[in-house]
Amino acid sequence: MPTPHIQASKEDVAPYVLFFGDPLRSKNAAEKFLHDYKMINSIRGALGYTGYTSNNVRISIMTHGMGQPSLGIYAYELINYYDVKVIIRAGTCGAYQKDLNLGDIIFAKEVITDSNWPSLHNLDNSTVMKADNNLLSIGEKQVQKLNIPYQIGTILTSDVFYDNNKDAWKKYYQQGILGVEMETYALYQLASQFNIKALSIVSVSDSYHNHQEMTPEIRSKLHNMVTLAITILEEIAQ
Ligand code: HPA
Repeated sequence: MPTPHIQASKEDVAPYVLFFGDPLRSKNAAEKFLHDYKMINSIRGALGYTGYTSNNVRISIMTHGMGQPSLGIYAYELINYYDVKVIIRAGTCGAYQKDLNLGDIIFAKEVITDSNWPSLHNLDNSTVMKADNNLLSIGEKQVQKLNIPYQIGTILTSDVFYDNNKDAWKKYYQQGILGVEMETYALYQLASQFNIKALSIVSVSDSYHNHQEMTPEIRSKLHNMVTLAITILEEIAQ
């Protein structure tokens, strides 16, 4: 049944979803990694596709947009109207720790937030949300084959990209938080509420300690992150 935000029919969405913020990343990933795929959504440009991986596992690729309110809408509808059972977000983050370099991968084992999302869902704002352990252990096994530096730990989901307080990040740095993005908390909270599996894998796209930019070589590592996410979906689908 289509929703106000997703036009796909129920049969057109697979139970295993790869979730991107950027619609063009969804499109490029479908073109590169899927065969016999079709577009299942274009409402608001939140492009979605369903097709088969090279190992013939049927998955959907869907766009969640930027920030928790946007991801929250798509994740809620995928779970509650399309019976999606596993969601892996593959995104980017800013690194808080010095030993993280551009292109490194972070597995968000845990996530905290500076937002009001928890209290809107009857949780204390200090509640830590967690990734699905099964997805995490499959991911850790697979990443070692790809030879990409990675860390597993806690990230921050923030509601601000342009923070008025330029020193706000130092508090998280001192707490050992690995990095910051803007969606994972809502994903893990909804996964927990509705009893599905979720994992966020984020690639470092910028650092709070220096002002490096992503080179084409580092961007190609994003490709590795997508390969990794698809491999995890394939294994959990078995
Ligand atoms: N802040 C929030 N989200 C992000 C960042 C950041 O620095 N980098 C990539 N996503």
